[in-house]
Amino acid sequence: DGPKPLAGKKAVVTSGPTHEPIDPVRYIANRSSGKQGHAIAAELARAGADVTLVSGPVNLPDPVGVNVVRVETARDMLASVQAQMPADIAIFAAAVADWRVKDQAGQKIKKTGDGALPVLQFAENPDILATISQSSPTRPALVVGFAAETENVVEHARAKRARKGCDWILANNVAPDTGTFGGEDNEIHLIAGNDTTGDEVWPRQSKVAVARTLVARIARHFDT
Ligand code: C5P
Repeated sequence: DGPKPLAGKKAVVTSGPTHEPIDPVRYIANRSSGKQGHAIAAELARAGADVTLVSGPVNLPDPVGVNVVRVETARDMLASVQAQMPADIAIFAAAVADWRVKDQAGQKIKKTGDGALPVLQFAENPDILATISQSSPTRPALVVGFAAETENVVEHARAKRARKGCDWILANNVAPDTGTFGGEDNEIHLIAGNDTTGDEVWPRQSKVAVARTLVARIARHFDT
């Protein structure tokens, strides 16, 4: 079973959505299958890394050879990621909910019968990618985030890289005509710096192939 270019490296990967409870039976969430994050965790493990996958609720089997930590909320996801530090590589593929419901109801919210509607207040969730990118002294040597954009993909993603403080952004065009959401294929633009010097465009390929391309790029990064 193949070469192990990432032997001795510890990696943490986030995947899937987070669920933010409204009450004991309801939640808000983003759409996310977890396919990309799970595929990346599997490929890192195949390359010899010691991998922990911190995953929100998904309908996917645990990747072979990966330590899987299951979480529900963004705050739990952040705590589980932090518990894995220090790590060499951190890859944030989860579709984290930007907001959680501020005052979760302890009991199921009932319909009142007089047509009065519940009003939800929101609080901002932590940004896991930004928090880990800007952490010290345990910041991983390589922090990778994703950007899903519908227009000006490269410019928006480069600005996101600077704002969050990560090393690489894998930018993805999710304009409605591309079929990316829930689909199998991704066209990725790798942004690795403030200017275009380190940029790469990866041809349209499956999420598993994207994971392989990324892990090969990571192996080269640590090799040089
Ligand atoms: O800001 P935006 O959600 O577009 O950024 C996407 C990137 O940031 C992804 O890598 C995602 O996993 C990460 N992220 C995060 N925590 C959040 C929001 C996004 O780790 N609360």
